[in-house]
Amino acid sequence: MAQSASPSGALTPQIANVLRGIRAADAGLLAVSEEDGRFLRVLVAARGAKSVLEVGAASGYSGIWLGLGARETGGRVVAIEYDAQRAAAAAANVRNAGLGDVVRVVRGDAFVEIPRLPGTFDFVFLDAWKSDYKKFFDLVFPRLAPGGVFVAHNVVNKKNEMEPFLQTVLAHPALFTTIVSPSHEGMSVSYRVR
Ligand SMILES: C[S@@+](CC[C@H](N)C(=O)[O-])C[C@H]1O[C@@H](n2cnc3c(N)ncnc32)[C@H](O)[C@@H]1O
Repeated sequence: MAQSASPSGALTPQIANVLRGIRAADAGLLAVSEEDGRFLRVLVAARGAKSVLEVGAASGYSGIWLGLGARETGGRVVAIEYDAQRAAAAAANVRNAGLGDVVRVVRGDAFVEIPRLPGTFDFVFLDAWKSDYKKFFDLVFPRLAPGGVFVAHNVVNKKNEMEPFLQTVLAHPALFTTIVSPSHEGMSVSYRVR
């Protein structure tokens, strides 16, 4: 049987439009690739994640993919962004994608905002400044539920900027970690065993 070349999980024209608009306006090339976005959606849905945290939302591109996964699980995403303009754009983009009831954009410094959030997380996506990855991991790991998944972006193309983080997750006794590269950027995917 012939295989389709395009990935399944078709987007509505409305969501596809919003994602295209974010990319068109993304002069700083902050947004994850489409392949990485699709991967995040699958991971959130496959994990059955109910409580999803995104650190570094920019204009909402990855947040929309996380939200599409969370919509399958009945979960919620909190996406934190400290640049006021980008946070406002993210909130508008999430709303326009029809995910306003799934993704909440918090404008603020994630180092300040994360301790204010209640409960544990069963899925964390880290995509802030790379030199902060180890500090964010140390802050969030105690709140990652057993069976939770911690994903960090750019671990291939910006590997040199986050060595302490990578050494930690690769050697951590409570994590299974693998590096995947749906596009050239790469993501570490860490599963919390206990
Ligand atoms: C690479 S971009 C994120 C791209 C986004 N995940 C996407 O795919 O659309 C990194 C973002 O992290 C934000 N950021 C960096 N440090 C932060 C912090 N401490 N708190 C909140 N946001 C932060 C930056 O302002 C920037 O918009």
